[in-house]
Amino acid sequence: MPQPRYILAIESSCDDTGVAVIRGNEVLSNVIANQSVHAKYGGVVPELASRAHAQNIVPTLTEALNQANITPSDLSAVAYTYGPGLMGSLHVGVAFAKSWAWAHGIPSIPVNHMQAHVLAHFLGPTSNPEFPFICLTVSGGHTQLVKVKSALDMEVLGETRDDAAGEAFDKVAKLMGLPYPGGPVLDRLAREGDSKRFQFSRPRVAGLDMSFSGLKTQIWQFLQQGQQKDPDFVGSNKHDIAASVQAAILGILMEKLQKAVDETGVKEVAIAGGVSANSGLRKLLLSKEEESGWKVHIPPFEFCTDNAAMIAMAGAKLNETGKSFPLDIEPQPRLLLSKG
Ligand code: KG4
Ligand code: ZN
Repeated sequence: MPQPRYILAIESSCDDTGVAVIRGNEVLSNVIANQSVHAKYGGVVPELASRAHAQNIVPTLTEALNQANITPSDLSAVAYTYGPGLMGSLHVGVAFAKSWAWAHGIPSIPVNHMQAHVLAHFLGPTSNPEFPFICLTVSGGHTQLVKVKSALDMEVLGETRDDAAGEAFDKVAKLMGLPYPGGPVLDRLAREGDSKRFQFSRPRVAGLDMSFSGLKTQIWQFLQQGQQKDPDFVGSNKHDIAASVQAAILGILMEKLQKAVDETGVKEVAIAGGVSANSGLRKLLLSKEEESGWKVHIPPFEFCTDNAAMIAMAGAKLNETGKSFPLDIEPQPRLLLSKG
C-alpha cells in the first residue's frame, strides 16, 4: 500500500481563516483564526473579513505546518476553497494558496466549499457513511439536501429559496437582542424552554426546496406584538421563544429530510455545516435512528463548522483522480454543487 500523502488546505470563504494538514483520514492540524471583529455588527462585514484573512493567513499556515510537524517539501498538494462564499474573502485565500503552492513547486487544487462540508464525514477515525447517502448541509450561508453517490458525485435534491437555516437562527437571535452568531445562543436557551409554548406556521414549498424568510417575518411580527404588551416580553420569555423558534426551523428541515428519504429510499443520512452542531437537530436525528431505522452520521463538532480539514479531504479525493488544475482558477462566489 502506498503511504497516504500530506495535503494542506486553506479555507477563507466567510469569516474564519482556516489552514489544515491531513494524511489519509488523519487530521494532523486544523487551525482556525476566528474573526471576532464582526460580533459588534451582528453579522459578517465582508470588507473587514477580507482584511482579517489577509492578516491571519500567514500565521495560521505557519501554525498548521508546525502542529503537523512537517515542512512544505512534504506536501503533495495544496487545496483551497474557490467558492461559494464572499468574493473578497475567497480572493485572499485563492490568491495566497495558488501563489504559495506555485512558489514551493506544489500542485494546487480548487475545492467547492459545499462538497467539502459533505466530505467532512470522511475525516478522522469515525465510521464513514456508505454510498449513496443523503446529506443535509445546513450552514449560515447554505441549506441543501444532497444525494451523495460517491465522493465526487453529488446531486442537489433541494435547497433553500431564500435564507439559509443558520441565517434564520442568526437573524431571529438578532431580533431578540442576542449576540452574533445567534445559532449556538438560541440552542443553549432552547434547552431550558418549552418548544410548544409559541406556534409558528410552516411555509408551503413544493418538492424538496425550503424557505425560511417567511418564518423570520412571522417571528418579527410576533416579537413586536409581544413587546407592545410587555416591554420585557423577550427577556422574560427567552427560553420558550428560543425553544419554539428552534422547533419551527428544525420542523422545516426534518420534514424535507423525511421526504428526501421517502422519495429516494436511501436511509443512510448525514448532516453537515454549522447548524449540524445544534443539539435539538442531533436529538431529532438520533430518535429517527431508533424509530425509523435510519443510519445517522453526525460529524465531530470541529468538522461541522467551517474548517480547512474538510477542504483538505475534498482536495485529497480530487488528487486521487490524477487530474491537474491550472493556476488561472478564479474565486466563484456563487459556485454551484455539480448536479451529478
Ligand atoms: O458552516 P458554518 O460554520 O459557516 C458557514 O458556511 O455559514 O455555519 C455557521 C452557522 C451560523 O449561522 C451559526 O449560527 C450556525 O451555523 N450554528 C448553529 C449552531 N452552531 C452554529 N445553529 C444552531 N445551533 C447551533 N448549535
Ligand atoms: Zn460552511
